[in-house]
Amino acid sequence: MARLELRNVVKSYGIYEAVRGINLTIEDNEFVVFVGPSGCGKSTTLRMIAGLEHITGGDIVIGDQVVNRLGPGKRDIAMVFQNYALYPHMSVRENISFCLEQQKLPKAQIDERITRAADTLHITELLSRRPGQLSGGQRQRVAMGRAIVRNPKVFLFDEPLSNLDAKLRVQMRTEIKRLHQLLPTTTVYVTHDQVEAMTMADRVVVMNGGIIEQAGPPQELYHRPVSQFVAGFIGSPSMNFLNAKLESAGDGLVVVLDDGSRLAVPASRTSEYMSHTGKRVVFGIRPESISSLMPKPGFETIEATIDLVEPLGPETMIYFNIGPVSLCANVDPESEPRPGSRMPLSFNMNRMHLFDPAGGRSLSSW
Ligand SMILES: Nc1ncnc2c1ncn2[C@@H]1O[C@H](COP(=O)(O)OP(=O)(O)OP(=O)(O)O)[C@@H](O)[C@H]1O
Ligand SMILES: [Mg+2]
Repeated sequence: MARLELRNVVKSYGIYEAVRGINLTIEDNEFVVFVGPSGCGKSTTLRMIAGLEHITGGDIVIGDQVVNRLGPGKRDIAMVFQNYALYPHMSVRENISFCLEQQKLPKAQIDERITRAADTLHITELLSRRPGQLSGGQRQRVAMGRAIVRNPKVFLFDEPLSNLDAKLRVQMRTEIKRLHQLLPTTTVYVTHDQVEAMTMADRVVVMNGGIIEQAGPPQELYHRPVSQFVAGFIGSPSMNFLNAKLESAGDGLVVVLDDGSRLAVPASRTSEYMSHTGKRVVFGIRPESISSLMPKPGFETIEATIDLVEPLGPETMIYFNIGPVSLCANVDPESEPRPGSRMPLSFNMNRMHLFDPAGGRSLSSW
């Protein structure tokens, strides 16, 4: 068990900076998920924590020890990769016990740890099989078992579920979360799947181009994104964005979209944006904040022509255009939307976002 600290960590490959100064403290037993688009530096960061990659600058601290110069074997870390790399010629039991035997632990202790891990992961009946005789999900659990028996200070996962089919992914995601509740251990988990990030993490770290855009609990990232990038990355389907201008209207403010539509800013949000009056902005609204509900205070209605309908069972997604931009809304299936028909859509402006068109920073003061 340990706290993990990244202090201004940099990684360059020649002149290319893959990680450009990361500062992050991960508390003892915290489950942190790194998420971001391909190439943003997630695996590189994880590999630096593991000691598989030299760091170009900064410090990595585990517990109260700077580990920059410690080899991977000395960091007391266990890593599970996308490709589990089990030894094909060894049984499950041998795969799990291999590193413990290398550490020359007494046999009784090895047996006890294997029994406990196998029990936790429900693989007891698989211990004598070889990896070739297991399903993808079972192999994944064996890889986890191999990591657990080491009692590491820190667990590192790099997209461990991406080789599994959709159903198994969801199942394993729950199991890993349950496992963390059962055996609390400082954990860093890398994925490019924002749903995985939101559902598993105590804290999500959104990376972009080698830097941290925002780190916070899932709900905070969802409700209070600091940038258009985070707003667009967290949440599915993605937030809708429209170019607009912020104008004053009486005592209040109004968002004027480029097609001329006017959406009043609720009184409770005006002070937040007042200093940006007269400026071009990017207006952001999530699909779940556009509905077919009767308008309530703070709602604004736009009459739209439905372009496409996606019924998902409990909810229905519809797509419609404002000017050249296609927007998505989450409507009540009972409203039975049909392509080509016109429908009044309520924008919940209490949940609106505004971003600076230059640089994409949020204009909200959170
Ligand atoms: N050994 C290397 N030499 C040169 N460039 C590298 C090397 N390893 C990684 N990079 C570059 O560093 C950047 C970050 O790579 P990294 O593997 O950390 O991305 P990632 O966020 O894990 O992406 P993905 O989601 O695709 O796994 C990429 O642009 C990659 O091309
Ligand atoms: Mg990667």
